[in-house]
Amino acid sequence: MARHAYRSALVTGASSGIGAEFAEQLARGGADLTLVARREHRLKQLATRLADQYGVAVDVLTLDLADTSDLEIAAERVADRGQPIELLVNCAGLGSAGYFSELPLERETAQIRVNVTAPVVLAHAALGRMRERRHGGILNVSSIVSGLPMPKSAVYGASKAFLGAFGESLFMEARGSGVHVTTVRTGLVHTEFHDAAGLDTAGLPRLAWLEPRQVVTPSLHAVAKGRPFVTPGIMNRPQPFFLGALPRRVLQAMVRRMYRV
Ligand SMILES: NC(=O)c1ccc[n+]([C@@H]2O[C@H](COP(=O)([O-])OP(=O)(O)OC[C@H]3O[C@@H](n4cnc5c(N)ncnc54)[C@H](OP(=O)(O)O)[C@@H]3O)[C@@H](O)[C@H]2O)c1
Repeated sequence: MARHAYRSALVTGASSGIGAEFAEQLARGGADLTLVARREHRLKQLATRLADQYGVAVDVLTLDLADTSDLEIAAERVADRGQPIELLVNCAGLGSAGYFSELPLERETAQIRVNVTAPVVLAHAALGRMRERRHGGILNVSSIVSGLPMPKSAVYGASKAFLGAFGESLFMEARGSGVHVTTVRTGLVHTEFHDAAGLDTAGLPRLAWLEPRQVVTPSLHAVAKGRPFVTPGIMNRPQPFFLGALPRRVLQAMVRRMYRV
């Protein structure tokens, strides 16, 4: 595989799913890595394998991004001038399933801290250094449904909508600076996400599912090229345009049927 545009990266959510695949493909492309998540054993196993297999340097930061002081440690690492991070991948995320009023508030606010606050804090830490070097990339992993209401995942849906709007604004602010900011609008992917969130996937269309590598390969390409958005998967690509063009009431009727509310 060709060397990647970025020689170093920090990947959040690297202990499983899409984040682990980002780590894999970046290491294969020759990037030194810092891997962030809570499950230390998984991070260490992955780090050892990637370092052995691809000859890159891989550090592990076992951190809970919902925790303010842990997030500060991650931000300090991103901003460390002595060990520049050329690509920041904000991939860590969690969801939940159920009517908002009935869900434990702690998990809902943790989603905001991990899905929203952490990407904002880390992007802030990254951008200053990247602008100084006139080189860098930020990938924010959002969702294909980020423009839609998501009943029974209200906070999750709103957190992903935030990332889309935030990322597009940063993309515009960064124009001409050598820094690329790309939002990944992924559809359904086979990972641990749905089980962890307690989401029932039985009614979801079988054909729409992607594997993590089908998300990661076009996402790394998109950020290197300086694209504002990437929607992986040929079947998914027209959806943001199509859904955005629908009258809101039609959209809500579709969503009601899909989420059975
Ligand atoms: N899978 C899908 O269908 C789908 C669709 C749209 C968007 N996405 C987005 O894709 C991203 C990656 O999810 P995935 O599908 O790969 O699911 P996953 O396999 O469940 O991975 C989630 C990652 O986030 C990390 N994480 C969760 N809470 C954390 C916390 N408090 N602190 C630090 N790390 C935390 C997890 O690590 P630890 O548990 O070890 O901390 C794990 O590495 C998420 O942002 C998700 O919203 C996924």
